[in-house]
Amino acid sequence: MAESLPLPVPLVRPAVLDDGPALTELDRSTWSTLHAVQPRPQPPYAPFFDDRHLPQDILVADAVNPAGATVIAGYIRVVPPTPLSCNAHVRQIQGLAVAAWARGRGTGRTLIRAACGTARRQGANRITLRVLGHNAPARALYESEGFTVEGVLPGEFFLGGRYVDDVLMGRPLGP
Ligand SMILES: CC(C)(COP(=O)(O)OP(=O)(O)OC[C@H]1O[C@@H](n2cnc3c(N)ncnc32)[C@H](O)[C@@H]1OP(=O)(O)O)[C@@H](O)C(=O)NCCC(=O)NCCS
Repeated sequence: MAESLPLPVPLVRPAVLDDGPALTELDRSTWSTLHAVQPRPQPPYAPFFDDRHLPQDILVADAVNPAGATVIAGYIRVVPPTPLSCNAHVRQIQGLAVAAWARGRGTGRTLIRAACGTARRQGANRITLRVLGHNAPARALYESEGFTVEGVLPGEFFLGGRYVDDVLMGRPLGP
């Protein structure tokens, strides 16, 4: 039997403005009511980057796709939850997506670890996020990376014909 080679670890780097079209396409292709509260994107698609969505807040993972090209396989967006100085010790994950072809091989985990490292270097001692109650893959990933449920807004969203909880998760960022 042929031995399977280990999958290469995705390379994580800060996003640049030129990544915008690929990230728009990633958001479009991964949209689902499992994780999105915005309506399905419709053409003409809004640019990924704008006044509130800046490359400096995004890390991307590059990986080789099934066609053999090195492309963006996933991204994570981490920002201060508010502009308040009394809240400056916290970072919040406000966007995480991995292309369908790249899932299940550690890309999401690599992005979360990189984001926690960046937040730590920025001086944050806590990182939070919001995840839909029915998003089992994402919840399993966050829990396995040390996030715990810190609150639940029951039935906060009506998606796909049913009420869905908004689950607040967080974890400390040790030194
Ligand atoms: C959630 C998501 C980012 C995971 O990305 P990924 O690259 O496939 O995740 P990884 O391969 O790093 O998996 C890490 C862990 O996540 C969990 N996980 C990932 N996919 C899972 C699935 N389909 N079912 C259950 N658990 C899953 C497992 O605990 C896994 O660890 P293991 O491989 O040791 O079992 C990806 O499925 C995705 O983009 N989903 C749509 C967008 C989304 O839900 N974003 C989060 C919004 S809050």
